[in-house]
Amino acid sequence: MKQMNSYIDSVFLNHDPLLEEVILSIKENDMPSISVSPSAGKLLTMLVSISGAKNVLEIGALGGYSGICLARGFGKEGNLTSLELKEEYAKCAQSNLTKAGFGDQVTYMTGAALQSLEKLADEDKRFDFFFIDADKDNYENYLRYCIRLAEPGALIVADNVLAGGSVADQDAEPRRYTEIMKKFNATAADHPQLESLLIPIGDGMTVSKVKKP
Ligand SMILES: C[S@@+](CC[C@H](N)C(=O)[O-])C[C@H]1O[C@@H](n2cnc3c(N)ncnc32)[C@H](O)[C@@H]1O
Repeated sequence: MKQMNSYIDSVFLNHDPLLEEVILSIKENDMPSISVSPSAGKLLTMLVSISGAKNVLEIGALGGYSGICLARGFGKEGNLTSLELKEEYAKCAQSNLTKAGFGDQVTYMTGAALQSLEKLADEDKRFDFFFIDADKDNYENYLRYCIRLAEPGALIVADNVLAGGSVADQDAEPRRYTEIMKKFNATAADHPQLESLLIPIGDGMTVSKVKKP
């Protein structure tokens, strides 16, 4: 998996000084190095751009790496709402989105994402693209909320669904969240309101389209 990703990165990605600075700012602020991989970030940009999504919800901001990738997909016309547990991470992400030129198009909601999602549902908010990349234990809860908040035809993308390859490879070292991801993938695959597929980029991304009624 690692070899495959290095190959994809080397062939399909160009030097990206802005995103490299984001990675540096994350290190400098002693935050964990758990942003999406460069190719996974490029896939997010392409999915937002191809789908024409303009109202994006992200669950798990960290330092804004994936936020910038998502915002690049909608460019000047679109908005990102990003949910992040930690105030200081949201501040770092906001600063990086501002450097990238998207400062006026992003709103951060801090605290536990489940509470923010309930608030968005209460306010009858709707989104046409979702990116789930926070605490794994809540992935299925997040998926339920995303479906509730989705415009018909919306895309829901979830990261880390291969759990380092351990969901598929019995010889791979199991991760704490291997079984959680197996269950999440099965739910996304069998859900009557979703059309889903797993794309093995980075640590794996499940892409689900919310069916139109
Ligand atoms: C893998 S990182 C996100 C990486 C980011 N999407 C990127 O690629 O640039 C996961 C983030 O989820 C946040 N998080 C963890 N539990 C959360 C919760 N219950 N509610 C909201 N955010 C949470 C963490 O603080 C962390 O910043």
